[in-house]
Amino acid sequence: MPSMVQRYLDQIALTCVDADEGQVADYIPELGAVNPDQFGLALAMHRGSLYTVGDAHVPFTIQSVSKPLTYALALSLRGFDAVDAKLGVEPSGEAFNEISVDPATHRPKNPMINAGAIVAASLVCDPNDPAAGFARLLDCYSAFAGRSLVVDEAVYQSEKATGARNRAITYMLESLGILDVDPELAVDLYFRQCSVRVTAEDLAVIAATLAAGGNNPRTGREVCAPHIVRRVLSVMTTCGMYDGAGDWVSAVGLPAKSGVSGAVLAVLPGQLGIGVFSPRLDEHGNSVRGVTACRRLSSDLGLHMFNVVGEGRATVRSSYDIREVPSETPRDGRDEAILRARRDRVRVYDLQGPLTFTSMESVLQRLDSDSQRFDAAILNLGRVETADALSRGMLFGMHAQLENSGRLGLVVDPDRVLSREAGAWTLDAVRQGKLMAAVESARTHVYPSLSEAVSAAEDFLLAGPRLR
Ligand code: DON
Repeated sequence: MPSMVQRYLDQIALTCVDADEGQVADYIPELGAVNPDQFGLALAMHRGSLYTVGDAHVPFTIQSVSKPLTYALALSLRGFDAVDAKLGVEPSGEAFNEISVDPATHRPKNPMINAGAIVAASLVCDPNDPAAGFARLLDCYSAFAGRSLVVDEAVYQSEKATGARNRAITYMLESLGILDVDPELAVDLYFRQCSVRVTAEDLAVIAATLAAGGNNPRTGREVCAPHIVRRVLSVMTTCGMYDGAGDWVSAVGLPAKSGVSGAVLAVLPGQLGIGVFSPRLDEHGNSVRGVTACRRLSSDLGLHMFNVVGEGRATVRSSYDIREVPSETPRDGRDEAILRARRDRVRVYDLQGPLTFTSMESVLQRLDSDSQRFDAAILNLGRVETADALSRGMLFGMHAQLENSGRLGLVVDPDRVLSREAGAWTLDAVRQGKLMAAVESARTHVYPSLSEAVSAAEDFLLAGPRLR
C-alpha cells in the first residue's frame, strides 16, 4: 500500500532532474569532484515510515545543515540565556559567509550564518578535552540521524587548509569579546562539524526527529527537548535559506537548512521530514534541484506549514469485521451459509478528522499491516470532516491497488465529503498517468451508507475468489 506514496515521490523526482543549471561548490577539491547529476530524495514520516528515491543513500558532507544541530546542542548544554547572550535570532538577509555582527551588541545575527554557527560551536567546545567535545557533538548528530555518523577526514583537512575566511570571522568574534574559548578550538570544531558524512535518508530522519519535537521516530529516542526544537525550527524558518529565506517561506513554507554540498533538509512540524541531495547550487548557495524538489513536494502534497489543517487524532478511529454489522439484504440459505463462514474477511475502518497526505499515509500503513486479514476493506468516512485533493487521489488509488491484488476497496461517504470542492489537483504527472483513470473508475465504489457498502462487499464474497 505505501508504494502509492513511493510512486508520488518517484513522479516528483522525475520532474526535478530536468534542472541542470547551477554550479557545484569548488572551493575545495573534494566538493568540486562530485558528480553534479546526482539526485537523492528521502521522506521520513513522524511515525517512522521512510521513503527514498534515487541517490538517497549516497554519502556527502553535511556542511551548513550542521548549523541547526549544533545550535540545538548549545541550547541543550548551556540553556537559552547563556546562548542568547552571545547569539541573536534575527534574519541577516546576507550571504552565509558575510563578516557581520549586530553593530550594537556585537552578537552574530543568527546561528545559520557562519559567524553565528562558529559562536554556537564555541559553546559546545570542551576546552579541557577538545576530542570529547567533538565526540559529544557527533553523538548528538548520530542520535538525530538514528545511526553512527563519521567525519570525512579528507573534507575536514581541506576545510581546515582553505578556511581563511572562517578564521577571519572567528578572530573578529574573539576581538569583540564574544568567544569564551580559544578561537582555534571554535573554528576547528566548526570545520569538523561541516565534514560529518550523511545521506539524504539521514537528513530526512534528522528532519523527522525535529518534526516530532525532538523524538527520533525511527529509534524512539528522545534526542532534544521540544522547547529547543521549537526555537531551532523558528530560526530555520526565518534564516535557514540565507538571503533566499523570504521567497522560500512564501513558496515552500517549511523550516529548512541548506549546505554547499547540495544538501537540503526541510521539516513539516508534527508531520514529516525531507532530505534532498543534489550538488549544483544557485546564486544563494542552495541546491537547485533540492529547492525544486521541496517546492514540488510542498505544492503537490500540500505541505506548506501554514496550510490550516492538522492531524490531531488517530485517523483510524476503530476497525472491525462485518460479522458485527451484517447487511439486511435478504439471502437464500446457501448464500447465508457462505457469508456466515466468510464475513470475517471484510474489514471496516472508521476514519475521523481531516484527510491529508499524512493522515492517509497512516491509513495506508494500517491497511498494509492488516493485509492478510481481509479480502475487502471498507473505509467509512462517516466522521471525516474534510478530504484534500491529494488524499482523495490516495483513497481512490487504494481502491485500484486492492483491485490489482484481487480484493475490493469500498468507501462510505454519507456526508458527501468527496463531492465537495477540494481545490486544484496539482500533481500533473499523476493527473496524466494511470492513477487518474483509476480515480474515475473507483468513484463507482463510493456508497452513501455503511449497510449498502456491506451489502456490496457480501456480493463480492459470494462471487468467490478472483485473483486472490
Ligand atoms: O563555512 C563553510 O565554508 C562551509 N564549510 C560550509 C558552508 C555552507 O554549507 C554554506 N551553505 N550553503
